[in-house]
Amino acid sequence: MLGVGTAAYQIEGAYNEGGRGASIWDTYTGANTVGMPGSVCKEAPCPLNSVMSDKGATGNVANNHYHKYKEDVAMMKDLGLKYYRFSVAWPRIVPTGHMKDGVNKEGIQFYHDLIDELINSGITPLITIYHWDLPQGLLDIGFEKALPACDPQYQQGWYDCTWGEDGTPIPTGMKSTVAKEFLAYAELLLQEYGDKVKAWATFNEAWTFTALASGYGKAPSQQPYMDVDIWPKVAGHNVILAHLMVVMKFREMQKSGALTPEHKVFITNNQDWREPLTEKKEDIAAAHYLIEGGLGWFCDPIFGVDGVHDYPKSMRKTLKYLPKFSEEEMKLLKENKPDAFGLNHYGTSFVAYDNGKYTTTHAGLVQGKSSWLFRAAWGYRKLLNWVKNHYGEYPIWGTEAGWSDGLEDPLAGKQDSGRLTYYQTYLLESLNAIKEDGVKMESFMAWSLMDNFEWEMGYAERFGCMWNEFLWDKDPNAPSADTPIYNAYSGKVEGKCGDDCARQRVAPGPQRPKDQTRHMRNSMLRLIETWGSPTMITGPMQDDFFQAATDQNICFGHGTYETSDGIEECSPEALSTKRVVPA
Ligand code: NOJ
Repeated sequence: MLGVGTAAYQIEGAYNEGGRGASIWDTYTGANTVGMPGSVCKEAPCPLNSVMSDKGATGNVANNHYHKYKEDVAMMKDLGLKYYRFSVAWPRIVPTGHMKDGVNKEGIQFYHDLIDELINSGITPLITIYHWDLPQGLLDIGFEKALPACDPQYQQGWYDCTWGEDGTPIPTGMKSTVAKEFLAYAELLLQEYGDKVKAWATFNEAWTFTALASGYGKAPSQQPYMDVDIWPKVAGHNVILAHLMVVMKFREMQKSGALTPEHKVFITNNQDWREPLTEKKEDIAAAHYLIEGGLGWFCDPIFGVDGVHDYPKSMRKTLKYLPKFSEEEMKLLKENKPDAFGLNHYGTSFVAYDNGKYTTTHAGLVQGKSSWLFRAAWGYRKLLNWVKNHYGEYPIWGTEAGWSDGLEDPLAGKQDSGRLTYYQTYLLESLNAIKEDGVKMESFMAWSLMDNFEWEMGYAERFGCMWNEFLWDKDPNAPSADTPIYNAYSGKVEGKCGDDCARQRVAPGPQRPKDQTRHMRNSMLRLIETWGSPTMITGPMQDDFFQAATDQNICFGHGTYETSDGIEECSPEALSTKRVVPA
């Protein structure tokens, strides 16, 4: 499977339309959620979380995909895309997160329409059930005073727990509100879309939305859940067991005939490669420890190592707050393994261990726009081998890999040599892993279809294979200079956003979001060559695909876009390419 991926909160926009409830990302970015189902903000302007890096950016409008999905699918068809991975926004389906409050027919219909459009265009959809946008109705927040942890009076999101006798939190696991609601939501999706969609991921990057959600950029980053030694482990435990519950339901539905044996359930986890800086055994051990504490944290329990479904021993030995699975849970994990090993991977770093501490460095590796992204295709090959050697013969589904830049001009942006090199080399090393190392890799999905809302980095880091014209403008529902700041460390609202939120070119405007245009990058041309297009390419690409992207501006959409030369128009008439076969 060769394709591209996106996620709901990053592209859909229409955050307060079509009956959608508030999500923790709306709250975190300081969007106006007053009156939305599940909202915790009673009066605008709603507070913005101090941990959000690109203050003022929200997913309110994003790529306006909710309204432009038809055009977007037509574009995908033109690009010759065969596989498309997207996520469903939980608060669009269950606005408060609680089934008892009702489901949202309009939201359910939206994904029917999207899926139908994809299938009618010859594109196979893969669904991610959870890509980080938890309904806010499942997580309370005290803006003035932190709420107590492990208190059943409150909605605790993924942190659902009780207090153990020794004063440490014990995750509530399969009995938690969040896991039960997640199961009900997942079951609804399977019932609604199961006859149309065969491949289902329970979660995207469990590590990222737990480990980084206590002050390292991701939502919720709120008190009382900011102690990074404790709360990510509690959340992670609940996530693993919620995943298990969905797999059990999936198998049950396969047995009853509601789903077929061809349906596949999986989970996508993420790991960047950690290369020991030297051959010293301490460096090797440190690199291994980091991979076990990242990928292994979730994958050892879920996929099992030598038949054991538990946290890695290295974690057990070193982490005080690592929760415990019961014998019964480990047995169920063993009996309910996923069908494929979903893997997101981006870059590599070198690890050295000295005096009780490890350090990571990147000497010699080229960096993307993201602080954490260093390119080394050989690292990908090593990781693929690590997964094969560690977990055995699961088919590996590469669900993300990609490169960021910050190119603001569409004409400069399309000449994305960094991303082009990235895909060229990462695809080559994937092939080497398959052919020479015997890795059972069955998919490579580029991240992402188009530039979009890059979480705490807003729109400042562009990961798209299509460059996107966001039509920057003032969004009255996004933070402004007057927006109060929620200090995630003190757990109180303190001060105002000021100049940070008053910057230009931060938010796509809601004024004419239909007019956004998407622009072909060199890397997309390279990918098209990879998956082979029936309509887009009229000859062998190798000879002239650079020329196609430099001399001709292939854009999709009907609107204007801004270049250093001024405002240009994108319309079928204005298309300067002989390469696009009209849809
Ligand atoms: C992983 C996430 O799944 C995706 O949402 C994000 O945009 C990319 N990495 C890039 O950071």
